[in-house]
Amino acid sequence: MLSLGVFVSGRGSNLQALFAAIESKRLDARIVLVLSNKAEAGGLALAREYGVPALHLAAGQFPSEVEYSRHLAALLTEHGVDFIVLAGYLQKIPSALIRQFHHRILNIHPALLPAFGGKGMYGHHVHEAVLDYGCKVSGVTVHLVDDDYDHGAPVLQQCVPVREDDTATSLAARVLEVEHEILPRAVQLFASGRIRIAGRRVTILEEKDII
Ligand code: GRF
Repeated sequence: MLSLGVFVSGRGSNLQALFAAIESKRLDARIVLVLSNKAEAGGLALAREYGVPALHLAAGQFPSEVEYSRHLAALLTEHGVDFIVLAGYLQKIPSALIRQFHHRILNIHPALLPAFGGKGMYGHHVHEAVLDYGCKVSGVTVHLVDDDYDHGAPVLQQCVPVREDDTATSLAARVLEVEHEILPRAVQLFASGRIRIAGRRVTILEEKDII
């Protein structure tokens, strides 16, 4: 069973979706630690309601990136985290951690990458950019995390239609519903050993093909 560390910066509705998937046995994992770079993040309060250790940790609390990174790695080890989910996390992950958790960090992005991703493309900025461009579809991407923002290989993507009368708020709400479906599904693919990775190609195996 995967022991998840979930990183959040905001209200934590994707974290809630992971808890719900675990409770309803759609996700065979446990959440052992929730971290946030924001002390007031709703996701931290939510984790505490579920009795899960929830800590505020930000790079700015440390004199150097190296010390921050060491502290973070030690915390993850201490809590037995073996897989990381970035569920609305708006701080860069140290490179050392990305190497340590190679192919074991997922991020969720509220658009179809590689469009509308990268630094500064988060929250309502994404949906405004999609509407300003005149796109007819948007969507959700769950992807592996590498050293560049929103750049790692996609694991799951799903389209969401853009409506003529959409605002950034209405589009964000429709996209969020899909996020809540596909984030737990993506984590479960890892939990059940159904993922093979070759370069940027992430293959989802049929259950019968798992050795
Ligand atoms: C989501 O839209 C996620 O895709 C983005 O940040 C938002 C987080 O929402 N990266 P929540 O905190 O999970 O409710």
